[in-house]
Amino acid sequence: MAGIVVLLSGSGSNLAAIMENELPVKFVMSNNSKAYGIDRANKKKIPSFVQSDLKILELHVTKLCLSNDIDLIVLAGFMKLLSPAFVAAWKGKIINIHPSLLPSFPGARAIEQAFEYGVKYTGVTVHYVDEGMDTGQIIAQEPIKIAKNDTIKNLYGKIHKVEHKLYPKVIKNLLKWKLIKAY
Ligand code: GRF
Repeated sequence: MAGIVVLLSGSGSNLAAIMENELPVKFVMSNNSKAYGIDRANKKKIPSFVQSDLKILELHVTKLCLSNDIDLIVLAGFMKLLSPAFVAAWKGKIINIHPSLLPSFPGARAIEQAFEYGVKYTGVTVHYVDEGMDTGQIIAQEPIKIAKNDTIKNLYGKIHKVEHKLYPKVIKNLLKWKLIKAY
């Protein structure tokens, strides 16, 4: 059966949503040994691998993808920029979720920046990964209205709620329709 690899660095709430939707997560990988996402994978008995050296981590992901039936590499809060060589090797098979309406507010502080800027709408983007920071082709977006009485805290909550629905849905469709791009 086809499967996916999830790369994460933190809490892994998107991984939890992906697992709850019974998507075929075969491996979970992280650069951060303290990532709670690794505990979530272990609880579900999904094999995991932690490696802080990005080159070694990429090699391991490559090996796993080559020796298993992996359709998609899913970044879910993975806070490292993948190397151009790795991205080129797996182009069209790596996707990411980002908490803004790209191309606005790329990078690590997207939610805060949108809030501080005072935009009326922010949102969530799922995109293919290229060599840049949050610059790959957009697959799906969902807007979120920032209400006058929203705080940064509840905006986080709103964004995560949308992410947890949108990401599993997009992954499901990509696997179902084999829309994974072959360049
Ligand atoms: C999400 O907001 C995602 O958009 C961003 O990193 C965050 C990861 O959250 N890329 P979690 O680790 O899945 O809870």
